Amino acid sequence: MMAAAAFVIGGGIAYMQVNSETARVVEKPSTIEPMAGAAQVGGDFELVDHNGKTVTQADFSGAHKIIFFGFTYCPAVCPVELQKMAKVLDALDGTDIQPLFISVDPERDTVDVMKGYVEQFHPAIVGLTGNRAQVDAVMESYKVYATKIESEMMDGYMMDHSAFMYLMSPDDALITLYPTEDTAENIAEDIKNRLNAS
Ligand code: NI
Repeated sequence: MMAAAAFVIGGGIAYMQVNSETARVVEKPSTIEPMAGAAQVGGDFELVDHNGKTVTQADFSGAHKIIFFGFTYCPAVCPVELQKMAKVLDALDGTDIQPLFISVDPERDTVDVMKGYVEQFHPAIVGLTGNRAQVDAVMESYKVYATKIESEMMDGYMMDHSAFMYLMSPDDALITLYPTEDTAENIAEDIKNRLNAS
């Protein structure tokens, strides 16, 4: 199933065709050049971490962040992207960067499920979930597209969702987005360059 997702960047809208769970981005915004006006992406949130503690953006302020939105039942894209995130973190060892995995499926992604899931990938990754309203709010501020697709095989449904890795500044402004085509090496190199330049 193909879904059109609109991603608002600095007043301009980039339309992307995201193929369900292969998340193949046919048309994508440039992600390597700095994006003007990108501050409209991101913002305050209140969620629950994988240890059951209520947290807000303030708990992660002061560090750069890499954020991926997905769901633990994801058959293909999320596991690959989280493995990639783990590789990026290992390549950036010693850098003050906070990795976050935010669920778009809070009904199934309980605190315990999130804990078991993120621990499979990297000890530094913090899993965040919450109630439906909390998750809807953070998805809206990060312009995340996600919709339920009925699926017998996936325990009733799966989520078709956008699959970008977000690089956020210490003060929660969007620096850039990495599409699924970017490798861990590309992303780690890009982050190193940006942090050295700043
Ligand atoms: Ni996924």
